[in-house]
Amino acid sequence: MTDSILPGIGPTIPLHDGTAIPQLGLGVYKVPEPETAELVAGAVRLGYRHVDTAQLYANERGVGEGIRASGLPREDVFVTTKVWNDAHGLDETRRAFDASMALLGIETLDLYLIHWPAPRQDRYVEAWRAMIALRDEGRVRSIGVSNFEAHHVQRLVDETGVVPVVNQVELHPHLPQTALRRANAALGIVTESWSPLARGRMLAEGSSDLEVLSAIGARHGRSAAQVALRWHVQQGLVVIPKSTSLRRVEENAALFGWELSVDDMAEIATLETGERTGRHPDDLG
Ligand SMILES: NC(=O)c1ccc[n+]([C@@H]2O[C@H](COP(=O)([O-])OP(=O)(O)OC[C@H]3O[C@@H](n4cnc5c(N)ncnc54)[C@H](OP(=O)(O)O)[C@@H]3O)[C@@H](O)[C@H]2O)c1
Repeated sequence: MTDSILPGIGPTIPLHDGTAIPQLGLGVYKVPEPETAELVAGAVRLGYRHVDTAQLYANERGVGEGIRASGLPREDVFVTTKVWNDAHGLDETRRAFDASMALLGIETLDLYLIHWPAPRQDRYVEAWRAMIALRDEGRVRSIGVSNFEAHHVQRLVDETGVVPVVNQVELHPHLPQTALRRANAALGIVTESWSPLARGRMLAEGSSDLEVLSAIGARHGRSAAQVALRWHVQQGLVVIPKSTSLRRVEENAALFGWELSVDDMAEIATLETGERTGRHPDDLG
């Protein structure tokens, strides 16, 4: 099988702790566990070198199996998982980490994220202290956050002095998160785009989004999905599109070696509505 593995697709982006993250990853939210291993193995063979899962997704076992089945050495695939809101706390976060690692079946995790700040329960600083300890013990290489507003990040930095390496947030042309990206960058934090296709809404049949993206794609010989994803890549964002179809997984990786023009980017910017597909981080949990 090994000789049918394609080389890794796309560049890596340096993280401020000295590691690096592949700019393209496969998101596996809502991929049913029984389908996960085959999908992940297929994506790795196609050239994906980064998989984004979470305790919540209930498919970490399939992610680990898929990486092993791909035939590529474990260390060649960057694995992210996340601690869920019910496991914030020094002991709780450590237990959740152990459970995730047992399911993944790997020795060292590449990136561990706090999934949401869940500010009403106000325990994310404790979760962060647990993650700092796991990093110091060498069980995880890098630690970061997800769905953190700038003020949540600042609190972590003020109380622990440790800056997350990434902030994974909802980000797509409807919601470009300009201010948050600027705040992340000021601290050296790499922004990752979740739901880069707005959960597929940007590609809905008959939508004006699809019309705009398809017209731009026609000028480049690319699909609407590729145009939307290239918009992320061209701005230096890490992008983790999800598809359960290997054909679309392959389509979603053809993002390098071509460029959107300044006018294309400006046209995509007109799709901004501020609309979220998920909750606002201050309201969840
Ligand atoms: N940190 C967080 O709180 C958070 C929240 C949400 C998501 N995420 C991460 O971000 C990843 C991506 O987000 P997402 O899964 O919500 O949404 P997404 O990647 O924006 O969109 C996925 C949807 O688009 C469809 N799709 C994908 N590629 C397509 C293509 N080339 N043509 C047509 N349709 C296509 C998929 O359908 P098919 O599957 O049928 O192809 C699916 O319905 C997740 O899997 C997860 O890893 C993180």
